[in-house]
Amino acid sequence: MDTKTIRFMRRGELISLGNVPPERTLLELLREDLGATGTKEGCGEGDCGACTVVLAEPDGGRLRWRAVNSCIRLAHSIDGMALWTVEDLAAADGALHPAQEAMVRCHGSQCGFCTPGFVMSLFGMYQNHVCRGEPVTRALAQEELSGNLCRCTGYRPILDAAQQMEQLPPARIDEAALLARLQALAGQPTAPSTLAYLAPESLPELLAARAAHPQAQVVAGCTDVGLWVTKQHRQFGQVLDVTRARELRRIEEYPHHVAIGAAVTLTDAFAALVAQRPSLKTFASRFAGLPVRNAGTLGGNIANGSPIGDSMPLLIALDAQLVLMREGGHRHLALEDFYTGYRQTVLAPDELVAWILVPRPQPAEFLRAYKISKRYDDDISAVCLVLRLELQDGAVARIGVGAGGVAATPVRAARTEAFLAGKPWTAETVRAAADVLRGEFQPITDMRASSAYRSQVLGNLLQRFWLESQGTTGINLEQFSLEEVDA
Ligand code: FES
Ligand code: FES
Repeated sequence: MDTKTIRFMRRGELISLGNVPPERTLLELLREDLGATGTKEGCGEGDCGACTVVLAEPDGGRLRWRAVNSCIRLAHSIDGMALWTVEDLAAADGALHPAQEAMVRCHGSQCGFCTPGFVMSLFGMYQNHVCRGEPVTRALAQEELSGNLCRCTGYRPILDAAQQMEQLPPARIDEAALLARLQALAGQPTAPSTLAYLAPESLPELLAARAAHPQAQVVAGCTDVGLWVTKQHRQFGQVLDVTRARELRRIEEYPHHVAIGAAVTLTDAFAALVAQRPSLKTFASRFAGLPVRNAGTLGGNIANGSPIGDSMPLLIALDAQLVLMREGGHRHLALEDFYTGYRQTVLAPDELVAWILVPRPQPAEFLRAYKISKRYDDDISAVCLVLRLELQDGAVARIGVGAGGVAATPVRAARTEAFLAGKPWTAETVRAAADVLRGEFQPITDMRASSAYRSQVLGNLLQRFWLESQGTTGINLEQFSLEEVDA
């Protein structure tokens, strides 16, 4: 099947590539087709960050800069964007970019395998913060390097490098000129042979394509589907990319809810949720690493249906609704009703997840989201539990409990909610409710945790929630910062 020519900017030049298979990854394109081997492959699954590159694309009259994992990014998805790899940073005379120079000065590299990825995350930080006059704090550096792993250097010199970049002679990109070139590129017609990789630019076109090609593999950020390619060597006859549909890239505010388009990245979706509910900040920053959040979408996380996806327990606890759309129709349903079994959903072959509707917070709402994983950063949950409580006269008026990692799908703990409804919010009630919650699901044992551990932890987290509702602090890892450890 014919594929559309991929066009993107690199080193100030337009690159056009034809006949690229729909499942070819950006990393394969770079290393094997373009001979750009500076970008490394470590894990091939979005965990280590060795393959990090930076993309820029027009967004509302300015450029958006994003560090992403090239190993699980489909090459076609960068059509119309500008790309930077570690080979594109030094000046023509060989002068290093501040992201590189700071790493040299701070001794941030030993074996060097992770270094191109760290440098690119630093470059993303440089464009997003240093170029906008924002200081790179230690906390920001930790946050934005959360998707890069190093096995030999240790992180302190790399974090030092992140903070040293702004003191070095600046390296500026003419963003206005680049934006103009990308906008001009978007206006140029491309060859019409687009059957193997469909990326409609409007919602009506997307729904028409879904109806016409129900067998096509639907993709968004590809942070999970990318692994089907790299680990299972799957080939797709046809791909339908939902991320170009402009309507689905929007976040819309309404009096009673916020509507998040299914193609909104996890970075932007969580920013909107945290703006409404600041207590979610740590949970949001622990969703994978930044390059995964920059590529993955909220709709993709939901439609993918993994029982260990972190956004669904949160959205279930918040009583979020989905809007599913097909040509000529749509339907609403509660998120927990979307799943019918392990990675099975109610989606019809011509239907797509279009919107996620999240109710606004109630004034007296008490909300906590807990993620239990072996690593603090850049890891998958063994158990995820999100609780939202509203009290009236000391009794439970409303409680929402969403859980992940404890069943074949993300789930609502309906039995526990029913047990708590109307009861006085006391230690005794919560002890009994914790037992109900421990018995509500039959989790599996796998490499992340045993069944018994998962059940035990569920109840323990409910008890922690009660302690926090009573004002107890200092019982979460996020209370500690690296500066305090250093001191
Ligand atoms: Fe490890 Fe891409 S190679 S994240
Ligand atoms: Fe060796 Fe980071 S310098 S893995």
